[in-house]
Amino acid sequence: MSVIAEPSRPRSRVAFHQLKVASVLPACDDGSAVVVSLRVPVELRPTFDFVPGQHVTVRATIADEEVRRSYSLCSTPSDLSDEGVLRIGVRAVPDGVFSTYACTSLAAGDTLDVLAPLGSFTTAVRAERRRHYGAVVAGSGITPVLSLVASVLAVEPQSTFTVVYGNRFARSTMFVDELADLKDRYGARFQLVYAFSGEDQREGLDRGRLDAETLAKVGSRVFPMDMIDEWFLCGPVGLVTGTQDMLTALGVDPESVHSELFYVGEAPPPRVSTEAASGVLTVMLEGRASTVPVAKGQNLLQAARAARPEVPFSCSTGVCGTCRAKVLHGRTEMTGNWALSAAEVAAGQVLTCRSTAETDDVTLDFDL
Ligand code: FES
Repeated sequence: MSVIAEPSRPRSRVAFHQLKVASVLPACDDGSAVVVSLRVPVELRPTFDFVPGQHVTVRATIADEEVRRSYSLCSTPSDLSDEGVLRIGVRAVPDGVFSTYACTSLAAGDTLDVLAPLGSFTTAVRAERRRHYGAVVAGSGITPVLSLVASVLAVEPQSTFTVVYGNRFARSTMFVDELADLKDRYGARFQLVYAFSGEDQREGLDRGRLDAETLAKVGSRVFPMDMIDEWFLCGPVGLVTGTQDMLTALGVDPESVHSELFYVGEAPPPRVSTEAASGVLTVMLEGRASTVPVAKGQNLLQAARAARPEVPFSCSTGVCGTCRAKVLHGRTEMTGNWALSAAEVAAGQVLTCRSTAETDDVTLDFDL
């Protein structure tokens, strides 16, 4: 393996595929997270081809209710091509319908509906590259970074990776064994620093919550800040935005900083328009156009689903990017975007779950 390239063939954004669960294993000592392995049949492997850092949307019916969630892949593209498996890391969250199900009931032999991988929290992994990658992650934010670290170190023999990984306790830290294996295998090419907010530690950062202030303070002790070519930030909104601000203040090119959030709290309910539906929303999806009446101020995902129930979405909070579309006609307004890059927004993409129609007629292209 010398290059991990973005899959080039067009693939459906709306087609769920049934994948069999091969195993559900603990991902940390206290049992608060699991790693779910999914078996991908040979004929579906091209569909699930992915690049490290991407995520999948999973759909299940739990207590008669359909739930969708996006989970990052912790496995590597070579795990898919060699063994035919995808792995996702799932952390149990309070009142989390799917995560509780995954951590307590899901078992080998069950099936899950899964969409093809998606996401831009990645980089072009190539054998000839010589880069120093840095990652600042907390909690389950390690999931996509584990795939990136394993892929980069395997494919780019001249590259190095430094990861600062924050958790409350050692016992709730995900993927400790997998990270130790990578450390054993790649030695000095992989620097890993743990930070625990709930207990003392012998080395690395002092006890305390991992945030931008802590990072700035320890700076060169753990992180050769000025030597990092590319950054990956994944965790709660405060950690990610605080680290972004710190890197910007240090003069780091924003183009070299990849960010991904896994949770931003409850989304405000979609705006309910009081205007009459005097306009038309045209939805382009899977090569077919459908129209539905739309009012100014109306939530675009809700309106689009009225026209085409299969429109892709997952989190509905502006985090996962599954609902993205390009505005081909009309004007829209987006409040809260944690998934699209500045370049994608400049190219006309919007998160439909966080956008409203601001003109009578809007055309959205979901076939990006
Ligand atoms: S559905 Fe996740 S960003 Fe819109």
